[in-house]
Amino acid sequence: METRQPPQPVAAPPVGHPIGILAELTHRCPLRCPYCSNPLELERREAELDTATWKRVLSESAALGILHVHLSGGEPTARPDLVELTAHCAAEGLYTNLITSGIGRASGMIDALSEAGLDHVQLSVQGASAETGDRIGGYKGGHAAKLEFARKVTDLGLPLTLNAVIHRGNIHEVEDIIALAVALKARRLEVAHTQYYGWAYVNRAALMPARPDVDRSVALVEEARRRLEGILVIDMVIPDYYARYPKPCSGGWGRRTLNVTPTGRVLPCHAAESIPNLEFWSVRDRALGDIWRSSPAFNAFRGTDWMREPCRSCDRREMDFGGCRCQAMALAGDAAATDPACSLSPFHARVEALATEEAAAVAPDYIYRTIGGAPGKASEGAAS
Ligand code: SF4
Ligand code: FES
Repeated sequence: METRQPPQPVAAPPVGHPIGILAELTHRCPLRCPYCSNPLELERREAELDTATWKRVLSESAALGILHVHLSGGEPTARPDLVELTAHCAAEGLYTNLITSGIGRASGMIDALSEAGLDHVQLSVQGASAETGDRIGGYKGGHAAKLEFARKVTDLGLPLTLNAVIHRGNIHEVEDIIALAVALKARRLEVAHTQYYGWAYVNRAALMPARPDVDRSVALVEEARRRLEGILVIDMVIPDYYARYPKPCSGGWGRRTLNVTPTGRVLPCHAAESIPNLEFWSVRDRALGDIWRSSPAFNAFRGTDWMREPCRSCDRREMDFGGCRCQAMALAGDAAATDPACSLSPFHARVEALATEEAAAVAPDYIYRTIGGAPGKASEGAAS
C-alpha cells in the first residue's frame, strides 16, 4: 500500500496553534513497565471518554490546525473503537501514529487499522532479547509477540518506528536493539533514555544507569548512525540527570502539543498533573480550542514571562524554555524553578550526585505499573 509522508511541522509561535495531540485513549495495558509515563493513579475503563466525544475532539484538533495525532495509552488497541477513530482521523486529514506495545489485540487489529488509513506505527521494545524484554515488561511471551506484530506492520507497507526506553536493566543491549531494528525493517529507532516521571520516578533507583554505560551507549548510537545512514534513522534522548542543559520539554509548555487523558482532561504534557494547584479543563465541558487558548494550566508556564533567574536572563531561554516544569517540581519542589537537569540550576550538582549514588547501589526490585495497585509495594523483578 502507499503511505503518506508526515506533514512537516512548522515552528509554532508562543501562543500559536498546536501541531500535535497525544490522545491517551486508555490506561489499560497488558504490559507493566516500571518506567511507564502514565500517572500512578491510572484511570479505569468505566471512566474513559466514549467514541462520540473522541470523534468530536479529533475534529476539533483538525480545526485547530493540528497535523499529527498520536493514538496512545496504555495500549490503544484495548479500545474496540480504535479502527473507527483512526478512520475518523483519516477523514479529517490528520496524520495518525499508533503508539503500541504490539501485544493483546494489536496483531488482530492491524489489518483493519491499515485499511482505515493508519499512517505510521511506533512499537515499543523493552530489550533485544526475550529474557530481558519479558522481565522488564512483566509479561511472558511479550517480546515474541512484538516481533510477530512488527513483521505484520512492515508486510502491510506501514512505516515502523521502534522505541526502546533505555535504563540500567537493558543498557547492555543497545547494540543488539539497533541490530533488531534493522532486522525488523524499521525506518526509525528511538533510543530513549528513561525520563524520570510517573512510574519511572518511583523506580528511579532500579533504573538509573551508570555514567560510563550511558557514555558507551551514546558512542554506540553515534557509530551506528554513520554506519546505517540511508537504512535506519536513530533518534536519541540522553538522560536528564547527566545532561548539561535540559531538553525543551514537550517543545515548550503550551506551545506545540497537548495531551488528552482517557477521561478527557487536557494537559500541556503527560506529567502535568504532578504539579499541584494547576487547573486542568476537560473536553467534556469545553471545546479543545478554548482549552488550548484559555485554560489556566496552559497559561501557567507559557512563553518566558514566568521565568526566574537564571533562566530569565539566559540566552537559551527560548531554546529550552527552562527545561521541564514537572522535573523542576519533582526535584526542586517548585514548578517555576530552573529544571535541575540544567548545569546552571543550584540543584544540578545534587541531582547528578544522586544519580551517581543510585547507579552505584544494588538495584532494588521493580515496582511494576498496575491499575489500582499501591505504588509503595514492590513486586518481583521478574515476569509473571
Ligand atoms: Fe535553559 Fe534556564 Fe538552564 Fe538557561 S538557565 S540553559 S534557560 S534551563
Ligand atoms: Fe511536564 Fe516536562 S513532563 S513539562
